[in-house]
Amino acid sequence: MAIELYNDGKHVCLMFNDLVDDSASSAVQANQFLIVSDGEGALIDPAGNMTYNALIMAVSKFFPFKQLKYIFASHQDPDIVASLNKWLMSTDASLYVSTLWERFVPHFCTLNRWEGRIVGIPDPGMKIPMRDTDIHCVPAHFLHAEGNFQFYDSKAKILFSGDMGASLVAHDEILRPITTAAEFQAHLPRMEGFHKRYMVSNKPCRYWARMVRTMDVEQLVPQHGRYFKEAIAAFLDWIEHLHCGIDLITQDHYRLPQ
Ligand SMILES: [Fe+2]
Ligand SMILES: [Fe+2]
Repeated sequence: MAIELYNDGKHVCLMFNDLVDDSASSAVQANQFLIVSDGEGALIDPAGNMTYNALIMAVSKFFPFKQLKYIFASHQDPDIVASLNKWLMSTDASLYVSTLWERFVPHFCTLNRWEGRIVGIPDPGMKIPMRDTDIHCVPAHFLHAEGNFQFYDSKAKILFSGDMGASLVAHDEILRPITTAAEFQAHLPRMEGFHKRYMVSNKPCRYWARMVRTMDVEQLVPQHGRYFKEAIAAFLDWIEHLHCGIDLITQDHYRLPQ
């Protein structure tokens, strides 16, 4: 199912939430995103090989996929961009990814297909104009990858936040956004364990939350699970106080297994 996050007739943001078989023993649910701005197309975090065919079919209902111009990858994980080789074969798109991963993601590829088509995003980020919007590559380093970007669509006022804000739910639980602080509290058990392990420490969470508060964000949309509207403030209040990752590590985590 395509969830329409924004549509003003000229600029459209879509989320695909059900392209991965996320039944109990299978792969983790993941969201993929299509932005079409006045006839120009971009994918955000298109995921891996198991999703490629379904995503082609889903995208084609809205945009001729061969004409995609941009692929944005928040980081280098398999659920983000393991399908890179196929997208480079079937389109003329360029991949934008952190300079830290620029020379690692070609390991997903064959036949030198990546040459001249991978753009490294520098640590401070960058702004990429699409026709009716700007896509801001927003620093989110160590949340969770060492070089990590989120993508802010300034027209739609959507922050595509990668693994930040992710929850582990089945795809059919992602029918609508989280809109109240009470609903956020009820949702917390689906997020807490993930953030405690996959986010590196409290420090980048705190700096990131402060940055997001200065931005005009109407929807915060992670790459797994449910997305946020009015409950964004509740999420920021929670994450900036969360102790996670290396904050929780002790010597007990480093002992020779017997
Ligand atoms: Fe990840
Ligand atoms: Fe992920």
